Amino acid sequence: MTGIAVIGTGYWGKNHVRTYSELLSEGVIDKVVICDINKKRAKELGEVFRIDYITDYRKLLDDPTINGVSIVTPSATHFQLAKEMMEAGKDVLVEKPMTMSICQAEELVKVSENTGRILMAGHIFRYHPAVKELKQRIDLGELGSIRIMLSNRFSFGAPRKDMGVIYALGIHEVDIFCYLMNREMPLSILADTRCSLQPNIEETAIITMDFGDATGYAFESWMMPAYGKLRDLVVVGSEKIAKIDYLKPQELQIFDMRIAEQDLNDSMIFSVENEGSYIIPISYAEPLKEELYHFIECIRSRKNPLSDGTIGMRAVKMAEAALLSAKEGKKILF
Ligand SMILES: NC(=O)c1ccc[n+]([C@@H]2O[C@H](COP(=O)([O-])OP(=O)(O)OC[C@H]3O[C@@H](n4cnc5c(N)ncnc54)[C@H](O)[C@@H]3O)[C@@H](O)[C@H]2O)c1
Repeated sequence: MTGIAVIGTGYWGKNHVRTYSELLSEGVIDKVVICDINKKRAKELGEVFRIDYITDYRKLLDDPTINGVSIVTPSATHFQLAKEMMEAGKDVLVEKPMTMSICQAEELVKVSENTGRILMAGHIFRYHPAVKELKQRIDLGELGSIRIMLSNRFSFGAPRKDMGVIYALGIHEVDIFCYLMNREMPLSILADTRCSLQPNIEETAIITMDFGDATGYAFESWMMPAYGKLRDLVVVGSEKIAKIDYLKPQELQIFDMRIAEQDLNDSMIFSVENEGSYIIPISYAEPLKEELYHFIECIRSRKNPLSDGTIGMRAVKMAEAALLSAKEGKKILF
């Protein structure tokens, strides 16, 4: 029997509820309960998906029919909820950012180790089919050695009040760059931010991550209307270049191009080799469904999640470093 609870049914939690309700109707799980302190919201969603709702998460603590909990509440509440749930014997999937401080992230990892409960961080892009395909191709050496990673996340909308773009969006990039480079952390992080609307809540940020041979650049902004909703990633290798449009999980674009180098009488000659570009089709899978399915698999098999608590903790460390770098105007070394 696998019973799941979703705590927090706001903008993103609704997607967890919809997806678990699909997994329920497919027979993958046996029960879903939703919990939100906003009774109207919980009731309405419960009626749409015909699932039970509660408004006090403490009722879940001694409910033996619930083994796993998705925590999709505001980030500042993740720590306390995740800690209480693990101590009560529940496995947890905590949305990103896993916590809003490094100390809290470290403590959650310890609680997970001490209780033997699964702590998974909601780093959804590790479950994105195009990212998985790209990672395989990088690991096989198809792109050559990686030189540049560039990610843009632009939109135009009201900014969040609980965190800026570094914790809300950049946390994806810092994790994905490390994932693609097979590195735990970069050598350093340098960031620049702009807070035009709220003090200390940046609505634009540029993060630079140095990996030695390669550099990752992430550009995040909620004040950039010119591109529509843009979420993309370009990886420039010495042999090929790859591009992902995160909004199209079913394709990966490859540019068969490189800068060729030739040593002519001690003088380097550079030339462009361009064999064109093509799309690699990928079977469609919704990243969130892949992520929640993986959580359920981990609950059953007790295996460590692909985005475990340590990965969530490292992402928090990198986000903190980016904020510190922007504040102090200097590179943060790891
Ligand atoms: N993985 C992603 O791509 C992604 C995307 C968006 C948001 N998120 C993350 O999801 C989390 C939620 O973000 P959101 O935009 O949905 O926020 P939101 O404010 O829209 O929703 C939060 C909900 O949690 C409820 N809540 C707060 N405290 C509670 C408690 N103690 N018990 C029960 N319910 C409680 C609120 O009533 C609200 O309905 C954040 O951590 C955010 O960073 C992740």
